[in-house]
Amino acid sequence: MNFQLTEEHEMLRKMVRDFAKKEVEPTAAERDEEERFDRSIFNKMAELGLTGIPWPEAYGGIGSDYLSYVIAVEELSRVCASTGVTLSAHTSLASWPLYKFGTEEQKQKYLKPLAQGEKIGAYGLTEPSSGSDAGAMKTTARKDGGGYILNGTKIFTTNGGEAEIYIVFALTDPELKHKGASAFIVEKGTPGFSFGKKEKKLGIRSSPTLELIFENCWVPKDNLLGKEGEGFKIAMMTLDGGRNGIAAQAVGIAQGALDAAVNYAKEREQFGKPIGRYQGISFKLADMATKVEAARLLTYQAAWLEGAGQPYGKASAISKLFAGDTAMQVTTDAVQVFGGYGYTKDYPVERYMRDAKITQIYEGTNEIQRLVISRYLLKN
Ligand code: CAA
Repeated sequence: MNFQLTEEHEMLRKMVRDFAKKEVEPTAAERDEEERFDRSIFNKMAELGLTGIPWPEAYGGIGSDYLSYVIAVEELSRVCASTGVTLSAHTSLASWPLYKFGTEEQKQKYLKPLAQGEKIGAYGLTEPSSGSDAGAMKTTARKDGGGYILNGTKIFTTNGGEAEIYIVFALTDPELKHKGASAFIVEKGTPGFSFGKKEKKLGIRSSPTLELIFENCWVPKDNLLGKEGEGFKIAMMTLDGGRNGIAAQAVGIAQGALDAAVNYAKEREQFGKPIGRYQGISFKLADMATKVEAARLLTYQAAWLEGAGQPYGKASAISKLFAGDTAMQVTTDAVQVFGGYGYTKDYPVERYMRDAKITQIYEGTNEIQRLVISRYLLKN
C-alpha cells in the first residue's frame, strides 16, 4: 500500500491551488454576497483542462484520473465551495453518464464540449415531490414519432440556467415506476424547456440552483441516453461517483476552515498569549485536523477504487457521509475559535459554515448515505 501521491497528482494540486488562490478566492465573498455565478472562472478552468480531468483526450479531456478530479474539487472548495460544486456537478453528474452510457456520436456531440469547457453540464433528477425517494419521479417522456415529449418539473438543479447540456430523468413507462424511467440529454434552448425559480440559499450562493420546466418539450430519440427503462440505474450509478465529488468538496471546505482557524489561533492574543496556546483551542484544532485527514483518506480511497475499476458505491457513500459531517463540525468549530469575529462577514469562516451544510444534504442526504451503506452491510 502506498499513500504517496504521484508527481502528476502533486503537480495538479499545485496548479489548482495557485489558480484558486489567484482567480477564485479574491471574489469568493463578493460572489457569495451577490449570489453571482461567474462564467469567466469556469472558462479559465477550461483553459487549464480542469473541466475534463478524467476523460480521454479523444473526448476533449486531459486523460487523467478520478483522484486528480477529486483533488481539483477539494482545492477549489478550499477557497470557494460554489466553484467546487460547479465543477463537481459538471464532471460527475453530467459528463460521467455521457462517458459511461453515451454512444460514440453522443460522446462527440455532448461529452467533448463539456470536457473542453465550451459548455457546462447539469443533472435533473429531483422533483418537488421526489427528493430522497428518487424513484417516485413524475416527469414523463411520451414516445412521439422520432422522439419523446417531456412534461414535468425538476428542482434544485445545480448549474441550472448556466448549463447548456442537461441529463434529465423521466418516465417512458409510468406504470413501471422506477423501472420505467429513462435518461435524456436535453439542450438549453430546446422549445418547451424553460427555467423556473432560482433558489435563494443559505450557502453555495454563487452556484446557481434552478427549477427546470418541461412543457411538451420534444427531444429526438438520438438524445435517449442508454436504453429505455435504464434511467433509474443510470441515475443511481451517476450518484455513486457524484457523492465522492461532494466528499471532496466537503474536505476542501473543512480544510479551508481549519487553515483559517490555525492562523487565527496563532495571531489572536487573549490574557497575554496567543489563544492557540490554550488547551481549549489547541485540542479543538487537533480534533479538527484529525477529522479532515480521515475524511480526505476516505475520499481519495473511493476515487482510487473507481479509477482501479473496483466497486466504489459503498466507499463513496461512506466518504460523503463522513466528509459532510466533518465539514459541518469543523466549520462550526472554526467559527467558535474565531469567537465574535467568526460570526461576522469580516472573516471567511461563517461562509464555510453556511457552505458546509449542503454537503450533508445534496446528492443524497446523509441519512440516505446511511441507508445505502447499511444495505451493503446487510444484503444477502
Ligand atoms: N447502482 C446500480 N443500480 C442501483 C443502484 C446503484 N447504486 N442503486 C439502486 N439500484 C437499482 C437496484 O438494483 C434496483 O434495481 P431493480 O429495480 O432492477 O431491482 C433499483 O435500482 C431500485 O433500487 P432500490 O430498491 O434500492 O430503490 P429505492 O427506491 O429503495 O431507493 C435510494 C434507493 C438509495 C434511496 C435512492 O432513491 C436514492 O439514492 N435516493 C437519493 C436521491 C439523491 O441522491 N438525489 C440527489 C439528486 S442530485 C442533487 O443533489 C443535486 C445536484 O445537482 C448536486
